[in-house]
Amino acid sequence: MAALNTPRRVEHQQTDKGYVPVYTTAIVDQPWDTYTRADHETWATLFRRQREILVGRACREFLVNQQRFGMTPEAIPRFDDLNEVLAKATGWTLVGVEGLLPELTFFDHLANRRFPVTWWIRKPDQIDYIAEPDLFHDLFGHVPLLLNPVFADYIQAYGRGGVRAHGIGGDALVNLTRLYWYTVEFGLIREDDGLRIYGSGIVSSKGESIYCLESPAPNRIGFDLKRIMRTRYRIDTYQKTYFVIDSFEQLMDATRPDFLPIYEDVAKLDSIPAGDVQPADSVFHRGTGEGWADGGDV
Ligand SMILES: [Fe+2]
Repeated sequence: MAALNTPRRVEHQQTDKGYVPVYTTAIVDQPWDTYTRADHETWATLFRRQREILVGRACREFLVNQQRFGMTPEAIPRFDDLNEVLAKATGWTLVGVEGLLPELTFFDHLANRRFPVTWWIRKPDQIDYIAEPDLFHDLFGHVPLLLNPVFADYIQAYGRGGVRAHGIGGDALVNLTRLYWYTVEFGLIREDDGLRIYGSGIVSSKGESIYCLESPAPNRIGFDLKRIMRTRYRIDTYQKTYFVIDSFEQLMDATRPDFLPIYEDVAKLDSIPAGDVQPADSVFHRGTGEGWADGGDV
């Protein structure tokens, strides 16, 4: 098992998410016995810190589902234990991977209700920031909402859409990636007593969990499928705009129609800079833009 102590990095590749490492696409068993004390401590530190910040900020479903899974700071969860809960609830399976996957492989997993989870956790000096997804981001951030039947179906629909977009070519994949980015990774949801976080990229980030809800700088705008498909985003700073859904059903409903005519419509329109507010937007909050970096939208 010693060979699994470091992820098997294959190469780096320029993608729409920047210059990222590409790993072997094989599914691997979670090498749970090889986690060191430092690994479990990293999990514990991040888990405690984020749970404290997220009560009152993350959506109800996210917080409750982490408990349903029995996730605690005591130790890195075992995928097998989580899979028992998940299989009964929504029929999804977590599969261990070495890291970020090529797009088509990733879509194929989602389309078949398999969620790839990076098995390794960041090092102590990366507690506050790591550019690529690790176990904490994937497990703490993404997995809880897979217990929600509607959200679970949405992720599968996204995977199927990804496989199709791959075949269509052009900007279809770019449009779809923006949808994933602004929902699954950086989405906000409106609850009775205010806006809450459901996006995994936010819940796994200490700074952005607070910034996305409380800073006056970013825009908070109502969900609109085509608008999102046109909107560029940030990979190296907090988002300039967050999109707010009313419910997971709204997300699922928006994803139900055939995307082909939607891609065609979107192709006729310009892309929208990450921080822009459009006349037709339903604006919850118009950002002040304070502290925004110039340029750098992808
Ligand atoms: Fe993610």
